[in-house]
Amino acid sequence: MLNIKKLIALVLSVSLLLGIVATSASADEGVMLISDEVATTEFVETESTTVEEETTTEVSETETTTVADETTTVPATEETTDAPVVAPSDATPRRISVVVNGDTKSSKGITWFTTANTSSVVEITTADGEKVSANIVYTDVTEWEGNFMHKATVTGLAAGTTFRYRVGNGTLFSDWGTFVTDNGDDKVNFVAIADIQASNLENFIKGAETAAAAYKVMPDAEFMVNLGDFTDDSTNEEWDYYDTAMADVNLNSTLVPIAGNHDGLGVWNWFNNMFNLDTSESVQVLNGVNYSFDYGNAHFAVLNTNDLLSISFAQLTWLKNDMNSTDKDWKIVFMHKSPYSLGKDAKWPDALYLQRSLTSVLDSCGVDLVMSGHDHQYLRTKAIKNGKANEDGTVYVLAGTAGAKRYEVRSFLANNFLDTDILDALVIHKNGYGNYWNGKDWNSTNEDFWGGCFNTISIDGGKLTFDSYILKDRPDEAPMDTPRETITKSDSFTLEKAVGQNKITFTGDNTTSEIEYYLGVVPSFFGLATYAIGEWLPRFLIMVPALLDSVINEDVF
Ligand SMILES: [Fe+2]
Repeated sequence: MLNIKKLIALVLSVSLLLGIVATSASADEGVMLISDEVATTEFVETESTTVEEETTTEVSETETTTVADETTTVPATEETTDAPVVAPSDATPRRISVVVNGDTKSSKGITWFTTANTSSVVEITTADGEKVSANIVYTDVTEWEGNFMHKATVTGLAAGTTFRYRVGNGTLFSDWGTFVTDNGDDKVNFVAIADIQASNLENFIKGAETAAAAYKVMPDAEFMVNLGDFTDDSTNEEWDYYDTAMADVNLNSTLVPIAGNHDGLGVWNWFNNMFNLDTSESVQVLNGVNYSFDYGNAHFAVLNTNDLLSISFAQLTWLKNDMNSTDKDWKIVFMHKSPYSLGKDAKWPDALYLQRSLTSVLDSCGVDLVMSGHDHQYLRTKAIKNGKANEDGTVYVLAGTAGAKRYEVRSFLANNFLDTDILDALVIHKNGYGNYWNGKDWNSTNEDFWGGCFNTISIDGGKLTFDSYILKDRPDEAPMDTPRETITKSDSFTLEKAVGQNKITFTGDNTTSEIEYYLGVVPSFFGLATYAIGEWLPRFLIMVPALLDSVINEDVF
């Protein structure tokens, strides 16, 4: 078994090398400037509008939602310096996370780390402080990259209940946090962020402020989706910065984590060790985890787009079976890399491969909504099926970035790697250079959109309401304790559908053995290579003049 794991690791290493072009694009920190001339040539649209007018969009078979101006005050984070973030070697719990694991009405997965080798204890009470006797299974405390990893799986909790909890060793505990269990009705509220991808405390704090703003707007959110790239290089230092900045938010959240390419792609098991997820159906766990869960009347599948550059045949099969094994009204997919984007990573084979390989599965399974990250901008498609607008299709949302690293539009991708007829909204939230496309105007800009992006999603029976917001940046040169006060709604749409229509069509075993996964690697690579030569390369070559032009104009490749 160990040899098979090593073999898979070797194959994944090869995949990493094959994908080096794509991953290097993600690692690139440069600022890409596209001239206004270039940016305006790809879209010939009608009237011009200012961003303050905000988008009112009709999607699918839906109603129109009027977007109102909203301004909310968010307290500044108190941390202002790059102070040491790691506690002295002791049993103090750090990097505490509560994640979905199993039945969301009764279960949670908890992880924390200590610098000392100490025991694991989780205490849970009701909101009133009354002790709760849940079933808690602890894994053995193990050393991981210089820290000690504690994991506990909690089952047997009451549905629809807010709990207090703390973790520790029986003597020394964390502060009390809270989480909530699903009450089993047909409503669910959650928030979503993406791509904080910071490497210093200041930028992690900016991301944490955006996450806190999401809860400010939706205080009854039942979980927070993080669409990946939690850190830049997945080092102990960065995860501790992440912990320092996000601790308050994380302590009182249930997290749905998605593996980004920066979350340990080069160091096996980082992501799987950071979170106590249900890995029973994951096709592999070396560089991320795929899993699924129910909440409210929705079924959610989380993909691992680090799997063989973007996605293996094994994971595609898992997704198809997973989505066909639910009769929940809503089918939603979370993933890191985006099939549809106008960001700088959209020109590489992985994005186009996802358009070709993944979307046909989503079409066949009736998935309603896909949320992704990776290209640090906000983009939303119309409901599409077979690559064309179709009211019975899937809406794809590239969820913007909560962090400080933001991407402009690569207009040369339009109508080559992405058919702009399917676009419904595009918000570029970058300080210094902003493009905004609302279906009418390609080149309007507004500083209100220069900030961190977060999203709120509310499902109530047959209606899904999606709102996207920007937490405006501090003014340049402002001290870190300057409050970020302005939250602007930058996009909004609703979906409506008849409930009780989905049927279970798959009832088999949806697990993948290591040998099955390995046997699928070769055809997965063959399929990827065939596609890359036959379809991606010709499209890429068409873009070469534009790419050269962008380099000449001090753009970044
Ligand atoms: Fe990424």
